[in-house]
Formats: sequence, structure tokens, C-alpha cells
Amino acid sequence: MALSFAGRVVLVTGAGGGLGKAYALAFAERGASVIVNDLGGDIKGGGKSSAAADKVVEEIKAKGGKAVANYDSVEDGEKLIQTALESFGRIDVVVNNAGILRDRSFARTSDTDWDLIHRVHLRGSFLVTRAAWNHMKNQKFGRIIMTTSAAGIYGNFGQANYSAAKLGLLGLANTLAIEGAKYNVHCNTIAPTAGSRLTETVMPPDLLENLKPEYVTPLVLWLCHEDCHDNGSLFEVGAGWVGKLRWERAKGAIVRHKSRPMTPEDVRDQWDKICDFTNADKIATIGESVQSLVNVLSEVESGGAVEANPTSSMSSASGVNYLSAVGHKLAPSQFTYNHTQCILYALGVGMSTKDPDSLRFLYENHPEFSCLPTFGVIVSQDALMGGGLVSVPGLNMDLTQVLHGEQYLELLKPLPTSGTLTIHTTVADVLDKGSGAVILLDVNAYSGDELICFNQFSVFVVGAGGFGGKRSSDKAKPLVDPPKRAPDAVMIDSTTRDQAALYRLSGDWNPLHIDPSFAAMGGFKQPILHGLCSFGFAARHVLKQYADNDPTRFKAIKVRFVKPVLPGQSLQTEMWKEGNRIHLQCKVKETDAVVLSGAYVDLHPAKDEALENLPKTGGLQSELVFTEIGRRIKDMGAELVKKVNAVFGWEITKDGQNAAQWTIDLKSGSGSVHKGPYSGKADVTFTVSDEDFMEVVQGKLNPQKAFFSGKLKIRGNIMLGQKLEVILKDHAKL
Ligand code: NAI
Repeated sequence: MALSFAGRVVLVTGAGGGLGKAYALAFAERGASVIVNDLGGDIKGGGKSSAAADKVVEEIKAKGGKAVANYDSVEDGEKLIQTALESFGRIDVVVNNAGILRDRSFARTSDTDWDLIHRVHLRGSFLVTRAAWNHMKNQKFGRIIMTTSAAGIYGNFGQANYSAAKLGLLGLANTLAIEGAKYNVHCNTIAPTAGSRLTETVMPPDLLENLKPEYVTPLVLWLCHEDCHDNGSLFEVGAGWVGKLRWERAKGAIVRHKSRPMTPEDVRDQWDKICDFTNADKIATIGESVQSLVNVLSEVESGGAVEANPTSSMSSASGVNYLSAVGHKLAPSQFTYNHTQCILYALGVGMSTKDPDSLRFLYENHPEFSCLPTFGVIVSQDALMGGGLVSVPGLNMDLTQVLHGEQYLELLKPLPTSGTLTIHTTVADVLDKGSGAVILLDVNAYSGDELICFNQFSVFVVGAGGFGGKRSSDKAKPLVDPPKRAPDAVMIDSTTRDQAALYRLSGDWNPLHIDPSFAAMGGFKQPILHGLCSFGFAARHVLKQYADNDPTRFKAIKVRFVKPVLPGQSLQTEMWKEGNRIHLQCKVKETDAVVLSGAYVDLHPAKDEALENLPKTGGLQSELVFTEIGRRIKDMGAELVKKVNAVFGWEITKDGQNAAQWTIDLKSGSGSVHKGPYSGKADVTFTVSDEDFMEVVQGKLNPQKAFFSGKLKIRGNIMLGQKLEVILKDHAKL
């Protein structure tokens, strides 16, 4: 569809000739009401005449368009906007285009040459834009163009004054883009090349002829249209070509060592790396820029990576060899703790003695003293905190640029309240997401030979993508969207101002969560809460709402970290119960921003749940068998999952009618038994009557015979039927 400007009011400064005139005509042709501003002076900023603007207004009107003239200098910015408001009642678009030249070699540049150029270009654009700003903000729409120049971007002999002012406009635009974004006020910058009176003295006539202003105009119109969402961008444009520009920054090198002062010789010795643009970063925001410095500070502080490898991973120029990284095992580590750490963690994720239920997690002499299930991430995070990834071969990426993306935790046994666990960490996979790389780390925590918990950390390494790897992995524990209905339960809890200060004592010492100046360097207005702290809050809410705070009911949790939470904000956990899976989403109550998404907690059924669910009369005998299978799976599910690796569906009939549905999942996690319709896919489904089922279980009826005689119907992967015996024979003894 053609881009229309009907109803829009557009101010073009310096529109009496050259590029400005072309813009004014084009906006008017597409329905805009145009303020044609031009002082009508000479190329060096001298003189004044109304003729230039008047002619353009006449031309627009002759074609049936709407336009008024304004003859003020851009240095009287308010007056230009006044003309727009008086004539058309609003201002939607400002194209800062007016300009003059006073070229001199630098040595001969006078104060006047300098000041005049700055007054018209930089100060003029500032004053006009400031006058329009609040009108645009209030109406929640505005489009602003700044006009820079290749002379500013690249430098040009004899244009020191002009280059400085022109690049000043880019700086102005960059900040306006940030301040205006939330009001839909966008500011972009163009560096045009076109034949005009400004260029006729410096370019040959036949070239000028081919550099028509009309080849610049379409970009300006598009950038000023409501459909264009670019903001804070810079474009070079001319001769019918348009290209976007951005900054590039070398990977660089950390040249500072913790143990000795930083010297010029350190810089000299790393010079090649500092200046090497191979795999350069494309930094787009000040947050990204400063974040990398924050990371450098912590890397130098921790000493580890820098001391061990003075050039650090940041200076690595080679790509990612994910094949040598995948499957790599980090050196095992040990985590020793006692009730103090368990209690400290529980307080860190908001447990309080206000709730009598919580005492079992806060008082070591409580008869049921327990460790909160999500403490499982604390025992396992050491491998990462210690910078262990740096030792992984093939991960030649900037590991200072790491964001915690997702977390999965599964408990195979309730966590002991004290002890020493041995932690084994494996790089499960490395994914190429284009803008970054995702590293999946599988962490198993053992007590002796016994597996206690499994974690999968999913970390996103900003800027490390594009190495030709796969985008997804079957090793990744998937996120699951909640059902599309209002939540079944909501729990709200406020974090305290000191929540992060308390939580960090459990082992995540990143200063981002405590030090205001560190946080400010990362672009945050105050230190932020740890993502895993919100994670602990959410899990606690589910445990309270659906499991009577019984930690033995907790099986697994998966979350995606979406946005940061500030200490003191309230967390709102929305929950949906689907069988033993509780889907959840966590929001900051004050802002409604989603902070944890795609999340769920899997619970073990309550001990008596299966039995209680038995029909009171005419109960099926098979119910007892499935309940027993459920118990056995609880004890040795992980082993069975390894052996069987399949999901079995059951349809039990009674008197020819479907009477019950069961699913025995021996594929995911540590296995489960589920009654009722199943949301996932069964590999094989058996249909059998309650009586025949019991005959098979008791070994009175051979399953093969049952199949051939039609008593047992099988859909799906029929071969899996053979594995059935493993479950029925050993695990359904009554
Ligand atoms: P131009 O000289 O044809 O147009 C500039 C217009 O601005 C003139 O009509 C002039 O009267 C007006 N003007 C000057 N001072 C003013 C003031 N204080 N208040 C109001 N109006 C004033 O020049 P051109 O080439 O169309 O340039 C337009 C813009 O593009 C300028 O900002 C220039 O620096 C920039 N530019 C142009 C390039 C080109 O290749 N033409 C290259 C790079 C930048």
C-alpha cells in the first residue's frame, strides 16, 4: 500500500532549495501539511529573503497540496513550531535539514567560522527539535530526522567546523532515540549526497546531474512514516542507493592484571589484538558497551581467566568449534554444606517465619527440617561461578558476555540437609542462534554413587553466534506454554529491598546484584535481583499452593528468564494445574512485566492421591496395579527410564466400555504414572479389559496370546510391547 501522510503536519527546515525542497514537495504530494522553512540566505549564512520558501509553497499549492512558509532562522526554533501549530494545529514530523558551509583549512578556521556552523547545524537542530518535543511526546507520535554528512563520519579536508557539528547531530539523535522511544517519538540520521548549491562547487556537473535530491527523498519519507519502526539508526544515501551504518568494535584484549599495575608496555604488547577486527562486535547500545566493561572488571577481579590466559577469551580471534566442545566434561568439583546454607537459601528466596508452614525450612531442630528443593541449583552452580567454561576447548567466544537464559532442575532424591555432593558438569550442546550462542550445561550432583539432582543451565553468549551450528537440540529441556485460560491460582509475595543482598550469600557474588555503580554501568538504575532468586520464589509458591509445602513432592522445574526484577518489587506467580504438572508464569506485580515464562513445576502425586482417586464403588482392579507401578517408579524410575525409554498408554475397559486411561511415562525425567487423558504422545497404546489386564499381570495370561486372541489391542510401536514385561512382571507385584 502506498505510504500516505494525510493528516500529518511536517516541518522541513531549509526547504527553499536543494534537498529540503525535494522533501517538502514529496511530503505534500502524499497528503501532508508542510511548513516550508527557509531563511533565504546565501550559502555561507549571510543575507535573508522570503523568496526561497515562498516559491516552494506556491509550487505545492499549485499541485493542490497544503503548505505555509516560515522565514525564521532555525536558531529561533520556537517560532518554526509556532507556525506549525498556528497553521495546522499540530506537529508530527521535523526534518532538520537547514545548513550552510564555511570551509577553511583547520589553521585558518576563525571563531566565527566555527560558531556559525555550530549555531545553524547543531544548535539550530537542537532548538527546533526541543520546541517540537513535548507536542510529539504528548500525542505519542513523532518522527525526527537529523542530517549529518560523510564529512562528519569520515572527516574531510577543510571541514573541521562542519564535520564536528555534523557528527554532533548524530550524538544528539542517538540520545533522542532513547528518550523518545517509549512515546513513539523516533529519531534517525541521514548522511545524504546530492547535487545542490552546497555541492556544486566541489563536484563535477555531470556527477551532480546524477545525484538528484529525489534519490534521497524516499528514504526520508519512509523513516518519517508511522509504519517505520527504525529508531536511532544512521543511513548513507545517494544516487539511488541506501545503506545503514553501525559501529564495530574489536574483540580487544584485557591488558590489566590483578596483581600488578597496568602499564603502557602491556598495551603495546597486546596492540595487534586490540586493533584486530576479526569477529568484531557490533555494539548497538551503551548497555552492551558498558556491560562488557563490567564483565572485564569481574574477570580481572576474579583473576582466574586473565591470570591463566593473559589474552583472555575476549581476544580470541578464531571461531567456535562446537564439535570439540560438545561432550566435554569439566573437572568434577565438590560442594559441602550444612543446615546453615539451607536456611540462608530459604531466607534468600523469601521464606519467612510469618508463615508457620515455612518453619520446616528455617529451623534446624524442626522435626521435619528439610532443604528447599530449588537449593539444587546452588549446589550445582559452582562449576559456572568459577569460570569453568573458559577451560572448554572449542568455545572460542567472549565468555564475559553471558546471560542466564533458562534453567531446568530435577531432583531424583530429596536434597539432604547437609553433606558433600560431587558435581559433574558436561557441555551437552552448543547452539547457534545467530545473534548469540547457547551453551547447554548438564550438571549432575551425586552423594557418593547416588544421583541426587540434575540441572541443565542454558546460557546465552551474546554475539557468539553465526559459527554454522544447529539452532536447536533434542538435549534441551523444552519450555512449555501455559494453558490458554485464566490461571487456576495466583500467589503474590513482595521481595524486600535487601532480597538480592541476602540471596547472594548463597554463592552468586556478581556485584551487579549489590553494587549501585556496577549496576549503573550495566544500564540498570539499581542493582537487580538474581534470576534464580525469582525462580526460588516461584517454586516455593507452587510447593505451597499444590503440595502442602512437602519438599518430597517436588520433582522438577523449568523456567526461562525474561526480564530482571528489582529488589523491593512484588512477584506474582500465576499457576495452572494440569495433572501433576503445574504450569507457571511469574510477573512483577507493579509493572505487569513477565519475568519468568514457559515455566512449569512437576510434582509427584501425593502418597494417597492415587488410592483416594479409586472409584468408591465398582473400582477397577487395575487401579491398584497402576498405583503400585507408580510407587515403584518413584523408587527406581531413573533406572527404568534408561532401560525402557518409552511412553505407554493404557485404555482399560469394563463391560465393553472405556473405564480408565493411564500413562506410564518411562521416557522423561525419572518416569511417572499418570491417570486420565495424557497431554503428550504415547509411543504405544494398549487397550485391554480390567479382567484381562489382571490376568496378564498375575502371569495367568500370556500377553502374546492375549494379542492374537484379540483380548489385547495394540496401537503404535508394537515392538515396545516386549518391554512391557519388564514393568509388569517386576513392578506390579501385589
Ligand atoms: P542547500 O544549500 O541547497 O539547502 C540548505 C538550505 O538551508 C538553503 O535553502 C538555506 O537557505 C537554508 N538555510 C541555511 N541556513 C538557515 C537557517 N539558519 N535557517 C533556515 N534555513 C537556513 O543545501 P543541501 O545540499 O540541500 O543541504 C541540505 C542539508 O544536507 C544540509 O544540512 C547539508 O549540510 C546536508 N548535506 C548535504 C550534502 C549534499 O551532498 N548536498 C552532503 C552532506 C550533507
